[in-house]
Amino acid sequence: MKSQSLKNKRILLCITGGIAAYRSLDILRALETEGASVDVAMTEAATRFIPPLTVKALSTGRVYTDIYSPEVDHITLTREADLMLVAPATANTIGKFVAGIGDNPVTLCFLAFNGPVVFAPAMNWRMYEHPVVRKNIQTLRDMGCYEVEPDTGRLACGEEGKGRMASVERIMETVRTVLSKKDLSGRKVVVTAGPTLEPIDPVRYISNRSSGKMGYAIARDARRRGAEVVLISGPTQLLPPEGVHTILVETTEQMLNAVLETVHDADIFIMAAAVADFRLETPFQEKLEKEAIQSLKLTETPDIVETVTSLPSRPFVVGFSAETGPNIAKAKEKMIKKGMDMIVFNDVTEPGAGFGVDTNHIVIIDRISEKEIPLMSKEACAGYILDAVVERLSGKT
Ligand code: PMT
Repeated sequence: MKSQSLKNKRILLCITGGIAAYRSLDILRALETEGASVDVAMTEAATRFIPPLTVKALSTGRVYTDIYSPEVDHITLTREADLMLVAPATANTIGKFVAGIGDNPVTLCFLAFNGPVVFAPAMNWRMYEHPVVRKNIQTLRDMGCYEVEPDTGRLACGEEGKGRMASVERIMETVRTVLSKKDLSGRKVVVTAGPTLEPIDPVRYISNRSSGKMGYAIARDARRRGAEVVLISGPTQLLPPEGVHTILVETTEQMLNAVLETVHDADIFIMAAAVADFRLETPFQEKLEKEAIQSLKLTETPDIVETVTSLPSRPFVVGFSAETGPNIAKAKEKMIKKGMDMIVFNDVTEPGAGFGVDTNHIVIIDRISEKEIPLMSKEACAGYILDAVVERLSGKT
């Protein structure tokens, strides 16, 4: 189940003439998969790299390649667009934007558009470093355009350097961020994610099945909505989200310390991590023999969320409740016992919910209300959770 975070958005994808133009087709597909309607404008040079017929076959929107075409024009396309994405953006087109030249479908659209512009430069690294190109990019940034900086690596010309067009995912994340509402702007949000891991000996440990997906989705969405975000994560396979200060930890004690270091000036604290509830009183320094299992002494780990709710000056606290059955009453009990402002219930035995999967089925509970969110992507669940927090903080409920 894919997130539809670009539903009802119309994107004007502008393709200019560089070897990275073939990757614009992946961007086109990714935008449409996420629910956006996409029109395409191409420079003449871009049509040398990818035939307009290919773009037309893959796209459900209009394709603008001829400024004298009676069917499609830059005024109509830009009037209807929510965002203009230029990918790849060549040095030539960037220069024309800055100079105010409108001599092809892409440059005309740029001049006619007054919404947000995202551009992803792609060129040889020496061109990218050229003082004129640097100055032009800075001018676009100063005008409020968003640059998705190129990656460093092997370039089409065979040289190594910074100039490869950014990955489709980085470009998509910038588009999502630019189009997101900014209702968390000025707020600091601390989120925990993933499992904690308690060593038994140098080989073995106590942990659980958390993949971190739920917490990472919340951190990403909070960032898109304008918050300063700190993500404290136990061991996962996930990449740190763009623009999020990510602190990697292993044990519950390390997670607690990282939380206490960052939460004192936070507005919102969301505890999505699945903390190991037990640890060894004293982990062994050497690998245990099997017979020693009888002598393992377990003790409880510190309760992180309770520590935060006991702070004299505390943020708005959201916990999670992982249950093995439809036990909402138990979640409410946990919320009250641990002093949380809100708790998110999930039944981790339900197919498609809880640990590891990309989807979740949650109930958002606070002291006065209870809202069930049907099974959907964790990205979308994150949106509902943050909506509920914003509503509470703005005093609407
Ligand atoms: O990571 P994923 O694979 O995406 O899976 C998501 C998830 C199932 C891990 C997530 O949705 C979730 O439910 N996280 C909380 C899991 C959990 O520990 O629930 P609990 O009911 O045992 O604990 C209640 C709350 O107390 C939780 O917010 C927990 O983080 C917190 N806690 C628990 C123990 C402890 N020592 N300190 C704590 O702060």
